This record gives sequence, C-alpha cells and structure tokens, in this order.
Amino acid sequence: MQFTSEILPDLIMAVAETIEQNAEEVTVLDQAIGDGDHVTNLQRGLNALIPLNAELAQLEWAQALQKIGMTLLSTMGGASGSLFGTLFISMSKAVNDRVEINSNDVSEILIQGVEAVKKRGKSDAGEKTMLDVLIPVSESMKQGVEAAITLPDLLENICQTAVEGMESTRNMLATKGRASYLEEKSIGHIDAGARTSQLMICAIVGVFKDQAKD
Ligand SMILES: Nc1ncnc2c1ncn2[C@@H]1O[C@H](COP(=O)(O)OP(=O)(O)OP(=O)(O)O)[C@@H](O)[C@H]1O
Ligand SMILES: [Mg+2]
Repeated sequence: MQFTSEILPDLIMAVAETIEQNAEEVTVLDQAIGDGDHVTNLQRGLNALIPLNAELAQLEWAQALQKIGMTLLSTMGGASGSLFGTLFISMSKAVNDRVEINSNDVSEILIQGVEAVKKRGKSDAGEKTMLDVLIPVSESMKQGVEAAITLPDLLENICQTAVEGMESTRNMLATKGRASYLEEKSIGHIDAGARTSQLMICAIVGVFKDQAKD
C-alpha cells in the first residue's frame, strides 16, 4: 500500500480524538511523577494542527512533516514539544522528495526520526520516557518489513509493541525529565509521554487498518 499526505487529516483527527478520550487518565499519570501539564501541552499542539489539515493534505510529505514539526515546536512547549517537533522535522528530512510512501519507507523514516529524538533528549531506551515506546515500535516495524509480514500483522505488531513499551515504563526508574527528581519514587508509575505516544501510535494504526480494508 502506498500513501500520499492526503491521509494526514484522518491521522491527525484520530490522534486528537484518542488524546481527548484519555486526557484525564494521562493527567493522573503525569501528576504522579511529572508536573501534570503533558496532555495540555499535547492538546495545544494538536489544536494548532487541526486548522492546517486541508493545507497539509495538499503538501508533499517533506513539506507537510516539516510544517507539523515546526507547529508542534512553536506551540507545545515543554520537553515533549521539542522532542515531538524534532521527530517530525527529522522525518521530513528522511522522506526526501517522495510523494507516496509505503510501509518500507515509513519504517526507514521512523528509525531516523527516533534517532533524532534520542540525540535531542540525550536519552535512550530504559529511561522511562516516550522513547520506551518509540524505540521498540521503530525496531519492530523494521523487523516486520524486513521479514515481509502481511500489512495486518505489521499493524497489529506495531500497536502491540507500543502497548508493551508503555507498560514497561511502570517498573523503570526515571533518569530523564522531571520524573527523575523523584528517583526511586518514580518506580510504579507509567510515564505520561510513553502513554500518549502509545495512544497516538495505536490510533494511527487504526486509521491504516481501516484504509487497508477498502
Ligand atoms: N530527555 C528526554 N528524552 C525523551 N523523552 C523525554 C525527555 N524528557 C521528558 N521526556 C518525555 O516528555 C514527557 C513530559 O512531557 P511534558 O509535555 O510534560 O513536558 P515537561 O513538563 O517539560 O517535561 P518533564 O516533566 O519531563 O520535564 C515525559 O513523560 C517523557 O516521556
Ligand atoms: Mg510536564
């Protein structure tokens, strides 16, 4: 399956919806080990993207991803604003001049985006952050694409890996961000950024599953 940027409005609306539906739960998570603002930061970014939907669908992938990244960077604030901004801006560089992308391309682009987030956050897997979802998802997608598994299986694996990654943060000690100030007390709580990343990934998977049916 090949996709142009015309799919972006559906993806953005699905992401906004899942964040809206789970906002209270994420805020409770963030209040336990962060400062409770993660969902508001994210919603500020998403609310800035929604009015751009029609424009994004007309742009080529590189320009659209760049615009998403710049918008998130300038509206979200917080650690997550610069990290999600970095993710999209680096994916925009990785996509190059491709007009249509398939799962192989997405895997390659995602790997580069996640690498940039690691550099920007000076962090890696196991530090109780969004990277505990993003890293395993990018790796599982790469493996799935290389093994040429079917699209439904690939999509299923991506959401499943995101859920496992999110769950894995519960027993981790936070060593990055505000949660790290709590040291051992950070153990026992899921990281808010890991939860929102998982929710967004599973929502995106849902849109692609629907598209694959048509
Ligand atoms: N250095 C980092 N690398 C990767 N992810 C990070 C890093 N710092 C924070 N995060 C992620 O960002 C989330 C917090 O985002 P939020 O929008 O609340 O920004 P913030 O309040 O400035 O950040 P924080 O509370 O972590 O200092 C965390 O739950 C974590 O997943
Ligand atoms: Mg915060």
